[in-house]
Amino acid sequence: MRLHQWFWLALGATRLCSALSAAGERVLVMVPTVDAASEYSDFLDSLTQRGFDLSVRGASNTSVALHNDDSTREYDHAILLAPAARRLGALSPRNIVRFVNDGGNLIVAASSDISDTLRSLATQFGVEFAKRKSRIVDHVHGTAGHTLVPSSHYANTSAVLSDLLLAAQNAPPVYFEGIGHRYKESPLLIPLLTAPRSAYSSPPEDSVLSGMSLGLVSVFQTRTNARVAFSGSTALFSNRLLRKKDAANRQFVTDLSQWVLQEKAVLRASPLRHALAAGGRPNHYRVASDVVFEIDLTELRDGSWQPYRAHDVQLEAIMLDPYIRTTLNQSSTSSIYGTYRGDIRLPDRYGTFTFRVNYKRPGLSNVDAQDIVGIRPLRHDEYPRFLSAAYPYYASSFVMILAFLALSAVWLWSAEKKTAPSAPPASASKSSKAKKSKKS
Ligand SMILES: *[C@@H]1O[C@H](CO)[C@@H](O)[C@H](O)[C@H]1NC(C)=O
Ligand SMILES: *[C@@H]1O[C@H](CO)[C@@H](O)[C@H](O)[C@H]1NC(C)=O
Ligand SMILES: *[C@@H]1O[C@H](CO)[C@@H](O)[C@H](O)[C@H]1NC(C)=O
Repeated sequence: MRLHQWFWLALGATRLCSALSAAGERVLVMVPTVDAASEYSDFLDSLTQRGFDLSVRGASNTSVALHNDDSTREYDHAILLAPAARRLGALSPRNIVRFVNDGGNLIVAASSDISDTLRSLATQFGVEFAKRKSRIVDHVHGTAGHTLVPSSHYANTSAVLSDLLLAAQNAPPVYFEGIGHRYKESPLLIPLLTAPRSAYSSPPEDSVLSGMSLGLVSVFQTRTNARVAFSGSTALFSNRLLRKKDAANRQFVTDLSQWVLQEKAVLRASPLRHALAAGGRPNHYRVASDVVFEIDLTELRDGSWQPYRAHDVQLEAIMLDPYIRTTLNQSSTSSIYGTYRGDIRLPDRYGTFTFRVNYKRPGLSNVDAQDIVGIRPLRHDEYPRFLSAAYPYYASSFVMILAFLALSAVWLWSAEKKTAPSAPPASASKSSKAKKSKKS
């Protein structure tokens, strides 16, 4: 069995023994007092039905902590529904940020009566709540003293919100009652629900918050794939608004909690695989050889791992700069994962390359699979024996040889002709002398 198949087997096994969430089932719910939890019973019951193990604690219980003594997380998710409480158990903003850094997921609900703890927590994630005691008002569409504001200004992220909200024509709005916030432009932060144009934050502050710039619910995903939601309203999770007729609140809260508690839009990738197109997996590839790269991607959706389908999964070959950036093709799918494949000719450059699939899309968990691969130059005996570009040089050396032979031959022949007459003259002169002497 190949390595990546073991990987998928292990992933399948983890699914058998946990809730629908990819991140675990232990949830801490902080409410002002344990009795007040009945106000949120619909929401909390729906979580229990989805397989979560809830620990409901009052805000004044000082023995509540997010971490164990040995610094591991006590819970996988935390839902803070006690905005006004001065103290949240033994939790400080610093504890909570550490919990998120360790991979914990967090839902924070605020209200007009927001404590400084929550406000300073929210600023760490780029969410700045309006002043204490301010509330959202809409004199055009609002009901219940203009403070129950309907909005259907969703962020268009299908990873978080279902098509029932995004695509449906004339879908009922989400009713919101509470405090608004200002949100930072950040690739990690999505303003999931913003106020309608006619709504504003009252009393107005120095810069008036209204319409699109007034966030109602924002979600944040860290680089380590922990998820955080900030809602300016605890009422959003209460039975009162969840049971409201002609409202999309129930759907919205379900989508929101499924996303934050890692029940949807969770991507997992296998390690990156590569081999020569001709077969075989050497330690180092030769420059410009043909290599096949493959990676498997799966998405947790509707309660099961399914093949992830997309047309924008890219592979990069990087040595300081990307030398190759190419889009992978989906080559095959199994029941749980889809395989993306690229047939690539390596760069004609040797060195240590990082091959990387760095896939980040709003709302989806980040995938960053990489492998470091050495690319070596040609060995001395791997160069072509004859280069067409060098034919003039080959020709010139043969011409030299021929010319040398011809010259030698010419020299030899002409030397014999000259020496043949010059040798006899010595004897000829002798003989002529002899003749002369004979004559004389
Ligand atoms: C306080 O929290 C601790 C630990 O989470 C729990 O065991 C205990 O029952 C809580 N006390 C009350 C009164 O809820
Ligand atoms: C939302 O995004 C989808 C694709 O991601 C696009 O087809 C659709 O037109 C967008 N809707 C709006 C209202 O922008
Ligand atoms: C993807 O498929 C197309 C069409 O078959 C092909 O031309 C392209 O080279 C493939 N891309 C990669 C990276 O293999």
